[in-house]
Amino acid sequence: MREQRPIIALDFPNFETVKTFLDQFPKEESLYLKIGMELYYSTGPEIVRYIKSLGHAVFLDLKLHDIPNTVESAMRVLSLLDVDMTNVHAAGGVEMMKAARRGLGDKAKLIAVTQLTSTSQVQMRADQNIQTSLVDSVVHYATRTAEAGLDGVVCSAKEVSAIKEATSANFVCLTPGIRPAGASVGDQQRVVTPELAQEIGSDYIVVGRPITQAENPVASYQAIKAAWSGQL
Ligand code: C5P
Repeated sequence: MREQRPIIALDFPNFETVKTFLDQFPKEESLYLKIGMELYYSTGPEIVRYIKSLGHAVFLDLKLHDIPNTVESAMRVLSLLDVDMTNVHAAGGVEMMKAARRGLGDKAKLIAVTQLTSTSQVQMRADQNIQTSLVDSVVHYATRTAEAGLDGVVCSAKEVSAIKEATSANFVCLTPGIRPAGASVGDQQRVVTPELAQEIGSDYIVVGRPITQAENPVASYQAIKAAWSGQL
């Protein structure tokens, strides 16, 4: 089940910049917003309450990775914020992921990071001593994530079909690294367009700078949303 709204990555340093950004959108436009470490560590849970009070959906991207008991307790606290989706690192293991699910409950989606998209195969072999291919490692982590009862994974759009084949068509694939045709790539290595992400079968796309740094963020958002939902 594909989410029609692109998730906007709120990669801003503080409350004021978020408010200025969101004030540009029409009040009735219901958005799906990603709060990452920078914003959360700067503002604390207040930013989540604020965004929820405006009627928007929240993906809290904190990528938890610790012993199962600690992750379960942290997720229990985060569940009180009524987020719509949050995540952990699959490298924490099946027991940690099950604990995360227990702590969070079933109301919010829970997904896992497999291999970070900033990790190359050479780095994975050297740093983690995992000697398979990068895709095999990603698919392995995705399978373990499904076994733990989570909803899906964060992944590169290029990995979606292998992941769905190894798990199920319903297993959620959320893909960052999205760029409209002709847009600046920035520091992303492997980018796809919203149209291609849709064709490939992503369930959610996360878009940051092409919207947040655009001259007209609302127009950019609407164009990306139309491309993603196949209305162009
Ligand atoms: O600006 P841009 O569209 O590149 O932002 C993408 C967002 O998705 C950022 O918040 C980035 O941290 C996040 N992300 C990513 N790759 C991952 C996981 C998260 O780009 N594998």
